[in-house]
Amino acid sequence: MATQFLIENDQNTVWHPFTHYKKGRQPIPIAHAKGAYLYTPDRRAILDGISSWWVNLHGHAHPYIAQKIKEQADILEHVIFADFTHLPAVELAQRLLPFLPGKMGKIFYSDNGSTAVETALKIALQYWHNQNIQRTKVVCLKDSYHGDTFGAMSAAGKNPYNRPFWSYLFDVEQIEPHCLEILEKGDVACFIFEPLILGAGGMKIYSKEHLRSIFTLCKKHRILTIADEVMTGFGRTGPLFACEGFSPDLICLSKGITGGFLPLGVTACTEEIFSAFHQNAFLHGHSYTGNPIVCTAALASLDLLLQEECTLARQQISDSHRTFCQKWSSHPKLKRCESLGTILVLEYHSVDRDQLYDFFLSKDILLRPLGNVLYVMPPYCIKKSELERIYEQIVFTLEN
Ligand SMILES: Cc1ncc(COP(=O)(O)O)c(C=O)c1O
Repeated sequence: MATQFLIENDQNTVWHPFTHYKKGRQPIPIAHAKGAYLYTPDRRAILDGISSWWVNLHGHAHPYIAQKIKEQADILEHVIFADFTHLPAVELAQRLLPFLPGKMGKIFYSDNGSTAVETALKIALQYWHNQNIQRTKVVCLKDSYHGDTFGAMSAAGKNPYNRPFWSYLFDVEQIEPHCLEILEKGDVACFIFEPLILGAGGMKIYSKEHLRSIFTLCKKHRILTIADEVMTGFGRTGPLFACEGFSPDLICLSKGITGGFLPLGVTACTEEIFSAFHQNAFLHGHSYTGNPIVCTAALASLDLLLQEECTLARQQISDSHRTFCQKWSSHPKLKRCESLGTILVLEYHSVDRDQLYDFFLSKDILLRPLGNVLYVMPPYCIKKSELERIYEQIVFTLEN
């Protein structure tokens, strides 16, 4: 009853993201969630194999984060962040900065991954503008994804997913991680890239050596590097950040930063970048910038992330994925089967994407293939037996 009521009222009033209405799918109502499971009103338990679009780290409705949010809501819910400040925002910046790759000096808060990217691009472009230096070109990796607002769409270059908007996107040069000649030309303002793995563009993994070449060439030619760690941040690829050991000029964070509780975007930059803004204000801001409740959720998630238990859990997921790959990577139905930290990727030679999605849902597992590419990116609290359940069904799709 509750289920049908929700579905009907949803369909009458709500417009969902990335949803083809022609296909006539009904949304799945979720009443509550716990750990790695989403529960429907009629008590069906769906195993969340993709961390609800890669945001959840420690499990749904984690009591520690929930409690901290409740406490903060009673103290200070929000205050304008231009000319004002508060403890959660300062504490989060102080705690986050030392963990970030390179030498980050300042944190700029925004609302989500796309705005973290918009902010980074605008900082990079205004950095050169403030110094009267003619550097205007933006370079990105082919098959990258940086979000859905106009700047973030532009930053990924033209591709089939932003086709209706091509004539409105600013020009960006797309290059492959192994073809970096364009960086030698001298007029590049910034290079934005997802380190080690291109997520929404097909979970394409590239080598640390290629990432190293990107950093080396950019440093040599004074090109600002923008590491988009919106997906990779907070342990997804193994270490806390995929750029560990490198020194980006700007880093974009979001998704897992609050453990999947609340939206938050962070753009971190070096003191050197910030120093170019001493005479000129950065012309950007959002109403909810630095929201105290959101920052509190991020602090609580960081507490959990830094516990040894979390490191071990990530290690265990990594090891399980690797073992799975060793066993199945040469399967004739697969073009590739590889893993990077807690992310497992399988590319089928050919598969019906919707059928695959429905198959897993029929087994009460949420996996959301990107075309021919199936990936598993679970919350870190997932148990070995739950991972095995997912693998078992994947193997079924290979063997049948
Ligand atoms: C690498 C990367 N950057 C940016 C974004 C955009 O984040 P959001 O969906 O929060 O706007 C995403 C989202 O998937 C992402 O994967």
